[in-house]
Order: sequence, then structure tokens, then C-alpha cells
Amino acid sequence: MSISSFLKEKFYQEHFFPSHNRGKALPKVLIDLLSESPGSWDIPELPELGSVLSDSGLISDAQSFLSRKFSSEKCWFGVNGASGMIQSAILSMVKQGEFILVPRNVHISVIKICLVSGVVPVFYDLEFSEVNGHYLPLNKSWLKKILDHHSLCNIKISGIVFIHPYYQGFSSEINSLVEICHQRRIPVLVDEAHGSYFLFCEDLGLPKSAVKSNADLVVQSLHKSLNGLTQTAILWFKGDLIEQENVVKGINLLETTSPNSLLLASCEESIMDWLDETNLKRYKEVITSAKKISEELISNGIPLIETHDPLKIILNTGSVGIDGFTADKFFCKYGLIAELPERLSLTFCLGFTKQKQFANILTDLWIKLIKYAEPNGRLKTYKPPFELVQIPSVSPSFAWRGKTEKLPLQECVGRICSEIIYPYPPGIPLIVPGEEINHERIDWIREESLYCKDLVNSYLSVLTKDQ
Ligand SMILES: Cc1ncc(COP(=O)(O)O)c(C=O)c1O
Repeated sequence: MSISSFLKEKFYQEHFFPSHNRGKALPKVLIDLLSESPGSWDIPELPELGSVLSDSGLISDAQSFLSRKFSSEKCWFGVNGASGMIQSAILSMVKQGEFILVPRNVHISVIKICLVSGVVPVFYDLEFSEVNGHYLPLNKSWLKKILDHHSLCNIKISGIVFIHPYYQGFSSEINSLVEICHQRRIPVLVDEAHGSYFLFCEDLGLPKSAVKSNADLVVQSLHKSLNGLTQTAILWFKGDLIEQENVVKGINLLETTSPNSLLLASCEESIMDWLDETNLKRYKEVITSAKKISEELISNGIPLIETHDPLKIILNTGSVGIDGFTADKFFCKYGLIAELPERLSLTFCLGFTKQKQFANILTDLWIKLIKYAEPNGRLKTYKPPFELVQIPSVSPSFAWRGKTEKLPLQECVGRICSEIIYPYPPGIPLIVPGEEINHERIDWIREESLYCKDLVNSYLSVLTKDQ
């Protein structure tokens, strides 16, 4: 089957990204554009359009309008996902050889840009729930413990990354975290890939968007958490801790010279769509009905993990002894496709259309799954084996480029890892180049690979001993 034929496939229930629910929730303007004369919209950066970095043209006008509207100094559209914008943001914040604090659930895009730029990621650990296998939201006292950690005494931290909310929807009180960092003159990048719509819905009791905080840089994924096309993103900039010129340089370095005009239009329209009062009312109804879906599922006895994002429904499969991958495979057979299987849970993304059938379908399939899997008690998880603050033993950039050999996992103890191991989704690394491998890490990687079979293949790439 060709890719294009597959794109026509329909599934019974689709609960994955992008959040426009296979076109149903795309902004009306985009639907019209796409259906009018297919392909006619695929045009280059004509002077009337300009580019994301030019001072004139329609793209620049749209960006200026939005930055004024949301009181940021500047914003830029991106067509290489939140990944591309995060990478540009990191380049603008930190130089080669400098240090940046990143959480243990950091997205892989951050690590990749560290590898090519020579920036050193310093990992901070997060509290972890052994009940549902997720990291818990960062709070002020935990952040202060990190910033005061003895291992940071002799190094200068040039920036910090917060994830707000996490993939599964856990979020922190972002304002206060930003203020703590700013008191120490540490610039903040908030990865808000999963929280774009928070910007419009505070009155529904959702977390505050980082765009409304004093964060220096905020990146949003417009296809994950608004109703844009895949690859669309936006970077918001504010404050005096980072030079605007450096952000422009960062974007310029990584942006394609041929950005897709349809995607740029999607960046604009997916935000403008929410500024229209009638649409906003409709989206708020979708969010309110999503909350009701959770309530209905809970009243049907379905074990859910509650987070701050009503559009994510997280099944606590581990509570009845089933791992999220087994549950995912089982539901797939019935045409119910989820977004994120994990060891103890399975996450569905509802997207921006009302899901009238979802609660009933999930309830019926859950009952079938329980009969099929014959679960036996609660599944256990293992706390990731990290210290509160960990600086890689060798520069990740050096380890990634170094001379390497592949060794069976059990022979890697004491050696320096030279590859990144990460399951996708969610794209959170288990180990990165430059980290020294110990018994605990190997045991943990093995455990994680039990459910995610292709993760490691029993061998790991390490630096040779002569370096
Ligand atoms: C927390 C987080 N940040 C950034 C990204 C990258 O987003 P994109 O796929 O738009 O590049 C992801 C993608 O999974 C993510 O989960």
C-alpha cells in the first residue's frame, strides 16, 4: 500500500495527534483553502508574504498582531514542529560549552541540539509517582532544592527548561517557577508544546499559559494543543535576559529556506480561530464536555489518572495489572487508536471535536480487555535511578562524536554512553551520550524495554576506552 492510500484509511475511533481530529476541527478558513483548488496554495516566499524573519509582509503582520495581542515582545511561526522552535530557542539562550538545566522528562529535541551545539544539559530530577509511573509536577521548593544543589556551585547555569504541561497533562504553577529563576537571573524556556489552548481558557479552571508569565521564551506546538496542521509551532519571546537578535539568529540557522505556505497559514489561522468569540464558545463546550467524559468514565468504574488537561484521558491500566502497550494493542484491534502507551497507562487525546461515543466505547472495550487479559493484581513500576542534579560525566557532544563500540548491556557498567535511547512517543530519553552507565541504569533500561521491545536490542553504544 502506498503512503497516500494509507492516508485515506479510516479508523473506528481516532484519539491521537494532531488534535484537529483528521480535519474535523481544522479552522474553517483552512478547510475552505484546502478544498477550493488543491495545491494552488503551495507558493514560495513572495514579497507579499515575506518570511517569518522579515519586517514586512503578511507573515510579519500576523506575527506582530499576535505578539501585541498577547503582550509578548515578538513571536515567530515555525514549520518544523515545536522541536525546531525549541532548538532555535536553546541556541539563542546558551553558547557552546555552557550549561542548561533540563528536567529528566525533557523532550529529545533539546538533547539533540545540545549534541550539535556543544551546550551541556544538566539534568534535574522530578518527583515520581510509583502508583501511575509518571513524573509529578515541579513545585517551588523542589526547584529551589535544585538551584541550591552543591553540584551547581562551580558552574554557571545559562538557562533552564520547564515542561508545561507534561505530555500527559500534569502542570505546575508556572509563574512562581519563572520568578524564582529570574531572581537568580536565569533565563527560562517553557516547552508548552502540550498547552497552547490554555492561553484561551483560563476561566475553565485550566492552568495559566506560560505566554502570560514572564518566561523569556515559550514554545507551543500548534498541532498538538491547538487545531493546526502537523509541524506547526510558535515561539514567543519576552524580557531582557535574552537578546532578540540571538533568537533571530537561532531561527535563521535552523529554518528551511522553503517554508510551506500552507503550514504558515495554518500557524496564523489556528490561533486566530480561537480569537473569534463564536469559535471560542464552541471550543469551550468541547473542553467542558471532555471533563464530563472523564466523570462518566469514572462513574462507570474505569480507572483514570487525572491531570490538568481535560483533553487527555489516561487509563490507569497498571491498577488492574495490565501494561499500557498490551491495552493499546488490544484496543487497536477494535479500531480504537490511542496516542501514548506507557508501562502503567494509556493516554487518549480527545482533540477539538466533541466525542459523543467515546465514554461508551471505552467502557465496553475495557470490560472486554479485562476478560481477555485476566489481570492479576496491580503492576509495579520502578523509580527512574536518577540523582537530583546530574551533570553528564563527559560532554554529550564529545561522546556523541567520539569513537564508539557496541557492547552487550551488562558489559557497559562504568563506560560512557554514546547514543540516545528513547521511546517515541513520548520522546523522553532514558540515557544520553556522555552519561556514565551504572547497574541501576541498566536494570531500569531493561525494565523499560520489556514493554517497548525495539528500544535497546540488548546492545549499547559506548565510547572506546582510549579516549
Ligand atoms: C514535551 C514535548 N515538547 C516538544 C515536542 C516536540 O513537538 P513537535 O512534534 O511539534 O516537534 C514534543 C513532542 O512529542 C513533546 O512531547
